[in-house]
Amino acid sequence: MTYTFVTLFPNLIEGYFKDSILKRAIEKDLLQVKYVNPRDYSKNKHFKVDDTAVGGGAGMVMNSQPLFDALNDLRQKDENVHIVFMTPVAKPFVQNDAKRLAKKSHIAFVSGRYEGIDERVIEKYADEVFSIGDYILTGGELASLVVCDALSRNIDGVLGNSDSLEVESFESHLLEAPAFSKPKLYESLSVPSEYLKGNHSKIRSLKYALSECKTKFFRPEQLIKHRTRISYEK
Ligand code: ADE
Repeated sequence: MTYTFVTLFPNLIEGYFKDSILKRAIEKDLLQVKYVNPRDYSKNKHFKVDDTAVGGGAGMVMNSQPLFDALNDLRQKDENVHIVFMTPVAKPFVQNDAKRLAKKSHIAFVSGRYEGIDERVIEKYADEVFSIGDYILTGGELASLVVCDALSRNIDGVLGNSDSLEVESFESHLLEAPAFSKPKLYESLSVPSEYLKGNHSKIRSLKYALSECKTKFFRPEQLIKHRTRISYEK
């Protein structure tokens, strides 16, 4: 998988690939990371990349010209590149998107800055547009990294133990059951006694009950989806 980050601030992104799982994935040649800076494509004599919005409104908008040229160049070099724009005005990114995108060969993440990106660039180049939640970040870089991280774990070989992909929150709309580490007793706090007794079928039912409790408390709308799915499958 190749990732190309189209951003005015590549430094904000680079550090994330310098440690841990994604660093190892690069070393194993499972991932390759590239950067394109729209400023390098600006035809403005001062390399300006933003301007006031046509029709008024607060703040500056990222100009169309540098982004048009940068993305045109990217498409010319690889006609299969899948171009994803990050903006709060979009479909929310979910786990199924992570699984689907993990099958692509080249994804470009376009991060907006200022008050947004000229809509014509999105219309012309976006294969998909994602938001990572109902809040406004200072730019799309963190959002690109969130999507990139979530989908990278679904690429074969990236996680050391692919079992960790098997029972995960959101796969069946249920949040995962709580996990505990050793020691079994810490600061006079014990792990649930059933976890210690070694009866795997009992542990599985307890974990299922705890998953339902957590989902009901934190994400009641997901529990409804889960129950609808179960009754549909019966
Ligand atoms: N850019 C700014 N806020 C964002 C968000 N919530 N999701 C994606 N991109 C963004």
